[in-house]
Amino acid sequence: MGHVIGIDASTTATKAVLVDEAGAVVGIAAAEYGFDQPRPLWSEQDPGLWWDGSVAAVREVLRTTGTDPTGVAAIGLTGQMHGLVLLDAAGDVLRPAILWNDQRTGAECDAIRSALGPRRLVEITGNDALTGFTAPKLVWVRDHEPDVWRRVAHVLLPKDYVRLRLTGDYAMDKADGAGTLLFDLAARDWSPEVLAALRIDPAWMAPTFEGPEVTGTVSAEAATETGLRAGTPVVAGGGDQSANAVGVGAVVPGRMALSLGTSGVVFATTDRPLFEPAGRVHAFCHAVPARWHMMSVMLSAAGSLRWFRDAVAPGVPFGDLADAAAEAPAGSDGLLFLPYLSGERSPYPDPLARGAFVGLTLAHDRRHLTRAVMEGVAFGLRDGLDLMVTAGMAAPDQIRASGGGTASPLWRQVLADVLGAEIATVSTTEGAAYGAGLLAAVGAGWFPTVEAAADAAVVATPVAAPGPDAPRYAAWHATYRDLYPALSPSFRRLA
Ligand code: XUL
Repeated sequence: MGHVIGIDASTTATKAVLVDEAGAVVGIAAAEYGFDQPRPLWSEQDPGLWWDGSVAAVREVLRTTGTDPTGVAAIGLTGQMHGLVLLDAAGDVLRPAILWNDQRTGAECDAIRSALGPRRLVEITGNDALTGFTAPKLVWVRDHEPDVWRRVAHVLLPKDYVRLRLTGDYAMDKADGAGTLLFDLAARDWSPEVLAALRIDPAWMAPTFEGPEVTGTVSAEAATETGLRAGTPVVAGGGDQSANAVGVGAVVPGRMALSLGTSGVVFATTDRPLFEPAGRVHAFCHAVPARWHMMSVMLSAAGSLRWFRDAVAPGVPFGDLADAAAEAPAGSDGLLFLPYLSGERSPYPDPLARGAFVGLTLAHDRRHLTRAVMEGVAFGLRDGLDLMVTAGMAAPDQIRASGGGTASPLWRQVLADVLGAEIATVSTTEGAAYGAGLLAAVGAGWFPTVEAAADAAVVATPVAAPGPDAPRYAAWHATYRDLYPALSPSFRRLA
């Protein structure tokens, strides 16, 4: 039986997942590393870590599964999005990569908005300028590191640096390309207008490909390092969010993905380049050809529950905490929680936003507080969903949920009630790396389309549907929505 490998160069580890022709995960290996915070707000990483991690993880997964590399039909790549990798003409790294979670570029975001005009920027790219994206990082290097800037010959994203080392080719997928803020969203390629306005040489930007397209093959040198067969095709893949969506089968409009990890992401596939006019949710190309997606990102989702547990109930297992919370009534007896514990991205791109419990009385105990945290996270996710629906997305009939938070039956029910859709969990839990594997399976010719691959490989099990509390949650959500505008002046003063 043949295999494909998905490689995910994430912020904390590079993971390799071996997948067979039936779409089953046969083996997983990961090589961990850290990232640097050389100054407050900065976040950087040596691109060499991703390559060393890829070599180690691929070798390990081939070894532990006893897989013959000649049976590996294709490789798919994914990774942390938005990171800026700068290379000189020889392909050597010019400075540490500036990562997605780096916050140094507030002023550069303003400069980009005024260079293009804020409306025009969103019209072309589908997005507002956010510190997380790649373009502000490039502008920062342009204005702060002229010696580096003079030597730039290539701009890549993290997973595409792995591709360069694997194949020798400069190439990028369209999903990750759109996350740079340098893309024309509708044209699915670099925007000459944005590049010119930011004084970025178009020759630096790699050719872009659809997710399952082959961009090159494993070189002889990389074959020696990784143990792969020279000539193995490598497909474009996608940024981690779109690859994760492929991995849970969120590849057609109406089927959404929700990830409830430290952060919370609501991901909606669209068949047109839809965007929210103020850029309050992200709009990128999907890793599925001719599809796009919108996405809202909450910075502290299950991270809010972790904070609450650690602060108020240290050592209590999440399962016990959540089971007790089910004894509190829906709505937590009039208690609301704002989950902006690390600032927020969608729908309020506000680094100074803060968390809050609002409505406390003597009648509230730990069960109510826990439940309010879960409900507050669901309300915040609903805010993102509402923006996408207003932008023209079809309301979802099913939401495919993944991430640690979805283990709680109470949280699943709250999500179904608040989001107004069936919540399903999926058989595959290897996330983005698995999705990259499915894109490779399409590139290898095993499936005619990404949709066919996802249909064959991903089994979704409905676990919650909107129940009798849903209308009351809608009323509490309206009150929740009033709180951020009312409190944000106080948040600013407190910060
Ligand atoms: C997506 C984003 C994160 C990183 C994390 O917009 O910034 O999901 O890709 O790896």
